[in-house]
Amino acid sequence: MLAQASPWYVHALQRTTANPAEPLSVPARMEWTTRPGSGPGAEILGPDLHRKRLLELGCGPGHNAAHLATRYGAQVTGVDLAGLQVRRARSHYGRLNNLTFVAGHALHYLQASDEHFDAIYSVFGAIGLVAPELLLPAIAQHLKPGCALTFSVPHPQRGGLRPNTDDRPRRDYVTLPDRTRLPIARWDFDAARWEKHLDRASLWLTSAQEFHDARHGLWPTTLLITARKL
Ligand SMILES: C[S@@+](CC[C@H](N)C(=O)[O-])C[C@H]1O[C@@H](n2cnc3c(N)ncnc32)[C@H](O)[C@@H]1O
Repeated sequence: MLAQASPWYVHALQRTTANPAEPLSVPARMEWTTRPGSGPGAEILGPDLHRKRLLELGCGPGHNAAHLATRYGAQVTGVDLAGLQVRRARSHYGRLNNLTFVAGHALHYLQASDEHFDAIYSVFGAIGLVAPELLLPAIAQHLKPGCALTFSVPHPQRGGLRPNTDDRPRRDYVTLPDRTRLPIARWDFDAARWEKHLDRASLWLTSAQEFHDARHGLWPTTLLITARKL
């Protein structure tokens, strides 16, 4: 039965079984990479986030959204495909102001929304897991002009992999808390291919940074991209 469920559902289910969903204190910084405490924080989303409307695509348990709502006073919406993750996020941070968690597919959420955001972001979330030719134009439609899209994805050369040589997704795996792996499709692009797709959606790539994590060997683990709506 579980083998037919979404890998993200099984992931959320195992997390919920392993760790109680209880109120948590708000993290002191925003994390974009696999190595907590390294890399930039929330400042790369924009110079002044106070009262700004932010959207996170694939928010998981909501740590980054909680940080942005509390430390910056931003109005944050976190969307996640897995209803159980949204429940977790609400148990952890539902008491906070300026923070809304919604269950749904990132693309469907954008298609149904008429809101415009000051920044949209994803941390190993929906970007890279949904066809970029659909998701990036939908994101662009909901960003105010000049505003930022920022996302981190697993680096396409992690563990010695080669980046995609075409625009199709390839097989990747979600590693579950019990260490089993379930297959998913991932658009595993390098910065140049992301730039091409961003460009088609009228989003201008402003930076691409890679990060390492000594626990994962010599290869980079994280690709962090920033772009701006033209
Ligand atoms: C690796 S987790 C990262 C969670 C969180 N951003 C973090 O850094 O802890 C990926 C998350 O993306 C969510 N996700 C996957 N596909 C999605 C989609 N199409 N729309 C929205 N969320 C999605 C999954 O349910 C999962 O919670």
